[in-house]
Amino acid sequence: MKQAGEKFTCLTAYDFTFAHVLDGCGVEVLLVGDSLGMVIQGQPTTVPVTVDDMIYHTKAVSRGNRNALIITDMPFLSHTSPAEALNNAGRIMREGAHIVKLEGGAYLVETVQELSKFGIPVCAHLGLQPQSVHKLGGYKIQGRSEDDAEKMLEEAKLLQEAGADLMLLECVPADLAEKITKILHIPVIGIGAGPHCDGQVLVLHDVLGITADIKPRFVKNFMQGQESIQAAIQAYVKAVKNGDYPSEEHSF
Ligand code: KIV
Repeated sequence: MKQAGEKFTCLTAYDFTFAHVLDGCGVEVLLVGDSLGMVIQGQPTTVPVTVDDMIYHTKAVSRGNRNALIITDMPFLSHTSPAEALNNAGRIMREGAHIVKLEGGAYLVETVQELSKFGIPVCAHLGLQPQSVHKLGGYKIQGRSEDDAEKMLEEAKLLQEAGADLMLLECVPADLAEKITKILHIPVIGIGAGPHCDGQVLVLHDVLGITADIKPRFVKNFMQGQESIQAAIQAYVKAVKNGDYPSEEHSF
């Protein structure tokens, strides 16, 4: 799809029923995100989420899915060494994930190489990394300064070279995300990263307008004007594919 210039869609899925609905609406990628800590469990951040939590939800999503690619997040401190990452990623892959997603930069090169070596596809996650929210001091846009942008671009190249199969950019200025998307040959999924990424992802509950918390600028409620959840999801898919979403008002 990247080579053909066709945008693809991704939404978070945490359970059997929604996985079935999203897959049926043509969403190509389902993300069992550790955002489930906040969205499903009511935790203040993603930090308390465990590998067992991710496995529980991956199993449910896998049962509801037929066609979509399933990405599962490696939660906080589940990949502090290549050996630990391999063990935890292996447990997650056995339960139905097709790719594991790891938040982190160049320090993960060895880990990505290790997972790749053993046949585990990896989605690298750059930009805002919510598992590091306490270190970052909040949910802030990343890569705004020239130095930070250059560093992110270099890290993206290193992670691709290490074997990453997919890249996710979260809360990154649109022009930087565009540059990274053009330079990498692997597909780039954006969230709050402007319209030029190869694919887009949002948290399902944000798309349906039922999120309890403050909504970030890049979020759009696709339920507005729709009569069913399926119609809202189809509107999201259509808007991403034809380039209507994200627009400038949803980008940084
Ligand atoms: O956990 C998650 O849902 C994510 C998305 C916000 C990209 O990582």
